[in-house]
Amino acid sequence: MKAIVQDTYGSADVLALREIDRPVMGDNEVLIAVRAAGVDPGVWHLMTGMPYLLRILGFGLRRPKVPTRGRDVAGRVEAVGGNVTRFKPGDEVFGACEGSFAEYATAREDRLALKPASLTFDQAAAVPISGWTALQALRDAGEVKAGQHVLVIGAAGGVGTFAVQLAKAFGAEVTGVCSTTKADLVRSIGADHVIDYTREDFAESPRRYDIILDIAGNHPLSRLRPVLTPKGTLVIIGGEAGGKWTGGIGRSLRAALLSPFVAQRLRGFISKETSADLEVLAAHIEAGELTPVIERTFPLAEAAKAIRHLEEGHARGKVVLTL
Ligand SMILES: NC(=O)c1ccc[n+]([C@@H]2O[C@H](COP(=O)([O-])OP(=O)(O)OC[C@H]3O[C@@H](n4cnc5c(N)ncnc54)[C@H](OP(=O)(O)O)[C@@H]3O)[C@@H](O)[C@H]2O)c1
Repeated sequence: MKAIVQDTYGSADVLALREIDRPVMGDNEVLIAVRAAGVDPGVWHLMTGMPYLLRILGFGLRRPKVPTRGRDVAGRVEAVGGNVTRFKPGDEVFGACEGSFAEYATAREDRLALKPASLTFDQAAAVPISGWTALQALRDAGEVKAGQHVLVIGAAGGVGTFAVQLAKAFGAEVTGVCSTTKADLVRSIGADHVIDYTREDFAESPRRYDIILDIAGNHPLSRLRPVLTPKGTLVIIGGEAGGKWTGGIGRSLRAALLSPFVAQRLRGFISKETSADLEVLAAHIEAGELTPVIERTFPLAEAAKAIRHLEEGHARGKVVLTL
């Protein structure tokens, strides 16, 4: 089968389209004929091996242990392992796996769900990682309630476009922070207010927010805390600044250390890959409350181009590889 693989860590130049063996599935896995694969910043981290902490955490010291890139997947089940009960060959599924930039990939049963019938494979492949992140950040870390004011910093990107729509579905009043050319998009997916960060500083605004999702911008806690309500919750999701060793993790650690001593809740956040939450996302999609925003699709052979595009840091929704 054709797959996008790498022999060493590095820039997108290390990626190559090669003919390799189909992956062998385990008893708790399914084999998927991949139709589309989402691209997100996690793919860039695994490709570059940055921050170095990732390598120490088991992704491979000198080269990635899994040479095939790609995590978000949508496709058709080709075969199922002996212990798999929820899927059968022919089912259309979406979820996360190791190595979705390939014609076939294996995925754990508990990281998959049936694809919502209303979505194309391209749309479904855009959902898992960004959708899990937005849902769990709002519902679990933020404990969002109807009527609360939510600030989404990085509202136009992969995670942000899911977060704005889900916050509206939870009944919140939503303010999205993005750049000028994306203000219309952020409004169109439901934001009640938009702050164009090239013209206006959210930190200067008199508004106070019950929940801030900090997805982009790498703002220090000293800029974020004054715009939170006295008992508000800051959820630190992303940000690509920080050192080579720990990346953006330093900011989350500082938040966790400070949080017990202040009335505001300051939380770092890492999403969990669960089929139950894919089903929650599918229900929001079927209810018409959530639609993946796809900026661009690329053919599998242009995976490096897709990653370079994302690397520029100004995505407008999601980037997807089609097969
Ligand atoms: N903690 C977790 O479990 C988890 C899970 C998924 C992703 N993440 C992290 O979350 C971050 C974002 O992921 P993503 O998939 O949304 O990335 P993305 O698709 O690349 O989107 C990033 C967005 O941020 C915007 N942006 C850049 N600077 C900004 C600023 N100063 N203020 C407001 N918006 C700004 C960009 O567009 P414009 O600048 O043109 O507006 C772009 O739309 C990454 O660091 C990723 O690694 C974390």
